[in-house]
Amino acid sequence: MRALQKKFYIETFGCQMNVFDSERIIYIMEKEGYVRTSDPECSEIILINTCSVREKAENKLFGHIGNLKSLKIKKPGLLICIGGCTAQNKSAEIINKFPYVDIVFGTANINKLPDLISERLLKNRSVCDTGDFPETFDYLYDFKRQYSFKALLPIMIGCNNYCSYCIVPFVRGRERSAGFDQIIKTAEKLAGEGVVEITLLGQNVNSYGQDLKTGHENFAKLLSEISQIKALKRIRFMTSHPGDFNEDIIDVISENNNIMNHVHLPLQAGSDRILKKMNRHYTSADFKKIYYMIKEKIPDCAVTTDIIVGFPEEKEEDFLKTLKLVKELRFNRAFTFIYSTRKGTSAELLEDSVSADTKRLWFRNLLELQNKISLEENMKLVGKKLKVLVEGYSLKNNQLEGRLENNLIVNFRGDEEMIGKFIKLKITDAKSFYLKGKISE
Ligand code: 5AD
Ligand code: SF4
Repeated sequence: MRALQKKFYIETFGCQMNVFDSERIIYIMEKEGYVRTSDPECSEIILINTCSVREKAENKLFGHIGNLKSLKIKKPGLLICIGGCTAQNKSAEIINKFPYVDIVFGTANINKLPDLISERLLKNRSVCDTGDFPETFDYLYDFKRQYSFKALLPIMIGCNNYCSYCIVPFVRGRERSAGFDQIIKTAEKLAGEGVVEITLLGQNVNSYGQDLKTGHENFAKLLSEISQIKALKRIRFMTSHPGDFNEDIIDVISENNNIMNHVHLPLQAGSDRILKKMNRHYTSADFKKIYYMIKEKIPDCAVTTDIIVGFPEEKEEDFLKTLKLVKELRFNRAFTFIYSTRKGTSAELLEDSVSADTKRLWFRNLLELQNKISLEENMKLVGKKLKVLVEGYSLKNNQLEGRLENNLIVNFRGDEEMIGKFIKLKITDAKSFYLKGKISE
């Protein structure tokens, strides 16, 4: 009789980089002969890929690991493995608080997972490996894509910016760029496999190549070269840093139809005093200069952003500057966050002076303003005929969802065979975060 195949269950929190890392984990686990299941109760291994960017995410994770205890008691052979940014940062705390966790692995040693599993099965105690960050980009581009028609592709990892609030440089290490040819070859391979949309990933994609020391490899050049792969109909990238975004990048986007007219450009704050405390290396005037250059050269370009409210020592007058800038620039969408102190960052040393009530009030005010702007901008698309790449079924209803060039989702009625294809839709209605449409000829 054929032995029953062992099953693994994986859960991913956080950003696109974590989503990609999970694709690598899935590839490794399947290569080791495990089969993925969507039911944790049926699995022999539970993997959790964690996020540490804000305290809330971490607290949720700790609650979640706590809930796994009853499953472990029911199934003593179950292996619980915690990876990702919180594992990198708080491995000792995880093992002390949750002694039934079997494996803790860091962000830079995902490929050691099979060895760690073998080690755990041999020894009767938890194993932990958060290792060192490698000096160079050490990814093997082996991953199991979530979608057949679109792919994430990291071009660099880590960050040198040390924004004063941010944990990322501590949990991902310093910037390391992948080799130019390695990226192009991988993008060509993906295109050959039927991928039509690719998203180039990095904590700060605009500084791609600076560590390669060849002196002639940069993001604009990489983007331009990738856009020559004509089977890639949609090229996206994130995240950008306003201090490193430049005219060459804008020109490459405007000259190539397969590079999407969407830039995610985190503002973080509208007050120069706060931007300085955040160590962002640009002023609101610098940000506006880049923003208007994008809009001038690519009038249809959607610009989305991230904003933090309640940064230490932020005063009402600072917050009002953020509101004023948001009103002026009219981002298509803003991801807004309440400041959360991260241990080890330089902002931890500043007094978290804004009261929780004020933070919540500012957060609500900003959200209300941005929702209104997003809705007004989205309403401008009603009546237009636009192309979406159909991604699958919406979780909210049984309609399909497709993505526009500007990254907005459109819900519409259609057939399953449309998934992975480009379909023209007439936009019929708009909400703040998505649109509704119907199939158009
Ligand atoms: N508190 C609140 N928001 C944060 N971000 C990063 N670190 C923190 C923090 N400590 C936000 C930033 C970043 C986004 C991914 O998360 O806006 O751009
Ligand atoms: Fe964090 Fe700043 Fe680097 Fe972005 S640029 S990952 S906010 S340190």
